[in-house]
Amino acid sequence: MASLINDRTRLIILNSPHNPTGGVLTKKDVLQIAEAIGDRNIMVLSDEIYSRLQYEGEHFSIMSVPGFKERTILLDGFSKTYAMTGWRMGYGVMRPDLAVQIARLATNSTSCTASFTQMAGIEALRGDQSSVDKMNSEFERRRDVFVAGLNKIKGFSCRLPKGAFYAFPNITQTGWTSKKLADALLEQAGVACLSGTAFGEHGEGYLRFSVANSLENLNKALGRIEEWVGKNVR
Ligand SMILES: Cc1ncc(COP(=O)(O)O)c(C=O)c1O
Repeated sequence: MASLINDRTRLIILNSPHNPTGGVLTKKDVLQIAEAIGDRNIMVLSDEIYSRLQYEGEHFSIMSVPGFKERTILLDGFSKTYAMTGWRMGYGVMRPDLAVQIARLATNSTSCTASFTQMAGIEALRGDQSSVDKMNSEFERRRDVFVAGLNKIKGFSCRLPKGAFYAFPNITQTGWTSKKLADALLEQAGVACLSGTAFGEHGEGYLRFSVANSLENLNKALGRIEEWVGKNVR
């Protein structure tokens, strides 16, 4: 990444914990990125929407590195931490002069967030936070079961994600391409997942599964994939 930064670089987008891989930047990684950027006039857009869904280590934001508060636009939201997906409410933390421009853009593109949704957001922030830890532990349990299950399936190889609620197995050994395999699993096995290529060309060879579902359903999905692979992968 450091080798790609040059005088034309204006913005660097970070996302940790990461969708789709579940990868996490450690504090050391973040400090190295900050060092690579140095004192250049480069903004960082840091998408930290999964910051409360991290299973190892502490989340560390580049915004807390000295000199980066002014150059970071931090994005977060309520959909992951408080299970409010679909409520369409997120927020950004940035310099006041940038906030004015973003507010203008948001007002003219989405009008505003419904007021009752905002009230729910206030409740979520001010209420008992133990639900967040409880949900985190539950996702960790599901991740462990699902990833272990995937690794038992012929042709699938999956690393343990350190954050977010996705599994991103490598499926190259099945002999199938990502899109074809994702379509076949949906149409023939009744299991919905995304082709890694939905996130760009480098996603070829991978599938993305979400573990935001019950353990019962996740186990059912594993059974269906295994059965399908038994018939279709040599
Ligand atoms: C990395 C990342 N950022 C932002 C979002 C946006 O979430 P929402 O539109 O629910 O606020 C998502 C949702 O999947 C995400 O994965």
